[in-house]
Amino acid sequence: MNDQAKKLRELVDTNKKNQKVIAVSSGKGGVGKTSITSNMAVALSNINKKVILLDGDLGLANVDIVLGVKTNYSIIDVINKSKRLEEIIVDYNQNLKIIPAGSGIEDISNVSENDLIDLMDKLNELASQTDVLLIDTGAGISKKVMTLLKNAIDIVIVATPEPTSIADAYATIKILTLNYKRKDIKMFINMAKDKQEAQNVFNNMNNICEKFLNTKLEMASYSVFDKTLPNSIKSQKPIIQYYPDSSFSISIKRLINYFFSQNIKLIDNPIKMFFNNLFGRM
Ligand SMILES: Nc1ncnc2c1ncn2[C@@H]1O[C@H](COP(=O)(O)OP(=O)(O)O)[C@@H](O)[C@H]1O
Ligand SMILES: [Mg+2]
Repeated sequence: MNDQAKKLRELVDTNKKNQKVIAVSSGKGGVGKTSITSNMAVALSNINKKVILLDGDLGLANVDIVLGVKTNYSIIDVINKSKRLEEIIVDYNQNLKIIPAGSGIEDISNVSENDLIDLMDKLNELASQTDVLLIDTGAGISKKVMTLLKNAIDIVIVATPEPTSIADAYATIKILTLNYKRKDIKMFINMAKDKQEAQNVFNNMNNICEKFLNTKLEMASYSVFDKTLPNSIKSQKPIIQYYPDSSFSISIKRLINYFFSQNIKLIDNPIKMFFNNLFGRM
């Protein structure tokens, strides 16, 4: 416990130097965590932020697939102590480093909390040389996910308008608030029909959290269902680069504006915006 408190303090100290640690999580899988973190990481690297993207989804890793990078080793090799952290890091570009997770590891229950704390220690060291540490966590409220979340300065919970996704997101927020005393939880409402639906889902969630958990949420960003995203994932190219004006890319820019007060213009071409609107993609 003492050890954890120490790590947390170190991360807070890190944050004082204007560095951010952002974890993106959810109650349910398949809601867009990897799409959001991968594209946010690329977009931040493009505006000259030094970024580390940690694929913390030990069960079902896919940052490497979304970004089309080859990985030989993973964070599991670091936990097993067969590789050093520096040896498994993949350079995506000059500013973005990726720490791959082990794919297809079904049983991670034998990764001890101490090993994870040890890993956070190594990450702290690395994070001190960068501007942003982005963590793509696994879904759900397992102890492993909590260890990653506890150390994050900012937590973004992703949910879609589906009732199961909302219920699971609420369960995660409840645990974070009651057991881990987290405040200021942010939300990303994904795959909504339109802006209004995203706003409604957020308002409902916020009302319930205020009433039953005495905590307020903030909507960091939202996205509608964007047909260009699955295509860009199939071709392993980040949508933010290849369709920068797609509604999903705009939602990522909105997320960056929220955290970094960057004022990135959300759309640069009003004609494209008109067509996006016409096809219901805004
Ligand atoms: N806004 C969106 N519009 C359309 N498809 C989306 C959107 N967000 C995510 N997806 C799709 O949903 C699937 C799951 O997304 P992913 O980012 O892997 O979720 P997670 O990491 O939470 O499991 C992917 O096929 C992705 O293309
Ligand atoms: Mg994922």
